[in-house]
Amino acid sequence: MSKYFLLLTLTSCALVSPLKQSSVVKGKSRTDYESYAKNFMISTQGVGTTKAAKYAIDRGGNIFDAAIAASFAISVERPHSTGIGGGGFMMIDHVESKTKTAFDFREMAPQRAHSKMFLNEDGTQDTDRSLTGGLASGVPGLVAGLVEVHKKYGSLPFGDLVKPAIDLARKGFKIYPGLAKALEAEKDRLCKFESSKKIFLNEDCSPKKEGEVLIQEDLAKTLELIASDKNQSFYFGKLAKKIANSQAMHGGLITTEDMAQYVVKERKPIEGTYRGYKIVSMPPPSSGGTHIIQILNILENADLRSMGPQSSQAIHLTSSAMQMAFADRAEYMGDNDYSVVPLRTLTSKQYAKVLYNKINPDLALESKDFPIPFNKIFLKEPDHTTHFTIMDSKGNIVSSTQTINGWFGSAVVAEGTGIVMNNEMDDFASHIGGVNLFGAIGGKNNLVHPKKRPLSSMSPTMVYTEKGKPLMALGTPSGTRILTCVMQTILNVLEYDMELWDAVSATRYHHQWYPEYIRVGDPGFEPYVEKQLKELGHKIVRKNLGCSIQAIKLESDGKLHGVSDPRGEGLSLGF
Ligand code: DON
Repeated sequence: MSKYFLLLTLTSCALVSPLKQSSVVKGKSRTDYESYAKNFMISTQGVGTTKAAKYAIDRGGNIFDAAIAASFAISVERPHSTGIGGGGFMMIDHVESKTKTAFDFREMAPQRAHSKMFLNEDGTQDTDRSLTGGLASGVPGLVAGLVEVHKKYGSLPFGDLVKPAIDLARKGFKIYPGLAKALEAEKDRLCKFESSKKIFLNEDCSPKKEGEVLIQEDLAKTLELIASDKNQSFYFGKLAKKIANSQAMHGGLITTEDMAQYVVKERKPIEGTYRGYKIVSMPPPSSGGTHIIQILNILENADLRSMGPQSSQAIHLTSSAMQMAFADRAEYMGDNDYSVVPLRTLTSKQYAKVLYNKINPDLALESKDFPIPFNKIFLKEPDHTTHFTIMDSKGNIVSSTQTINGWFGSAVVAEGTGIVMNNEMDDFASHIGGVNLFGAIGGKNNLVHPKKRPLSSMSPTMVYTEKGKPLMALGTPSGTRILTCVMQTILNVLEYDMELWDAVSATRYHHQWYPEYIRVGDPGFEPYVEKQLKELGHKIVRKNLGCSIQAIKLESDGKLHGVSDPRGEGLSLGF
């Protein structure tokens, strides 16, 4: 019995309903997703990826080597979610140098990109172009990012770290349910591009099915090149040319010059506190860290613990805080290398207090009362990107979220490379008030501009005790839900005192201002809680959030405790 249940049983079982939690994927058990160990812990979304990270450590590497091996491996194992044709963020705590830092290897807009490129002549948004085909892609950053991390913190030869990914691509692996689902959903887009069809579909464009072996030979060859010359072929040579040729063929803008000009940015993490605990997360161009801290700051004004995590009152307050954060996201957030983002205000306790005071405990906020009037809100539903977390007993941490954006990104595989190109350009605002794939509204600061990075929600995060000791690190995929899923997991541990397993598997919910409802994942809220929320004026939509939290906590007995979300295909492994 978990500590949380025990607490409820002993104190207030008549008042607080039992915690509703997701069950483990069919055919698996809790032990597949959870691990305790003394020295190292790895939580990723793929069994092959977790093993690739362990491969690096088994050969005497450190967790930064392991993170590089995991990044290449997950690029192969989850080709619908992430890859070397995409980008991401990596939070690092390097104990020896006392450095907490944020690597930004997010895609960059090509030089010929401009703020009207996703508008029709009549000024309406053209999402087809920002989602599929050449124009949808930004300049990929993952390879450059990993080379940079390796240069600073790696210890094994770079080429050795690519090996598990090369083997996985060449020998192949059985298509698992999540990949089969993505292939089925995206078969029509993949069918448009011969180079993509060749890898992922059959001759008649039907998708490869669950249980079939997926071999990615071109990708294996590409990875061999990267193993031998790091970023040279990719950004300055043969691979850069192939990517540019593919772009030209499919109406994209990326040239060899764009590839050569890609830059990794090392940024200062954004920091905040919650009841004394320290939150260290991703700054812009992610909106994630900023709004996680903002929502926690708002909620710090309430006594959520006494309400109970799944009480209508706590859900009402938490959803209202989410609503207000998303309104600010639309108004202010973007790549702050290109515009001024009021980060200090957004993450301040004073501003949070002002927002908290706007919440009526008896009435849901109406989104139309927020500052920006928009129309045409729509929402499509991809569910991927990837996250992994790795920690060791010395307190070194890697927390990294990586993506090609929607399932199979732009659907274009750059001819002859096996590289699935991202559709990250859709994360820009096509115009002020434009919406992306996840229904997130974009403002002025997120308009397309050459070399700018699109606004992201990816939120690799680290949490520390008041004394600065590592407490946990985590992250997840799933578009705008990323930041609310990470925030809720943190809240579950810090505020509601849940054990890590309970914190990760508890029912999750999300409100993003527009659309105007609380979206709740399985197994939902208790019926009476849902009724009370409706009475407060909330609309409730039952739909899984798509998050797959990969978390590691340093427990008070000194053991590392890893949990890979039981809703997913991952593996937490300690040793
Ligand atoms: O950076 C972002 O916020 C998005 N491109 C992430 C995409 C994602 O998580 C897709 N999965 N649902």
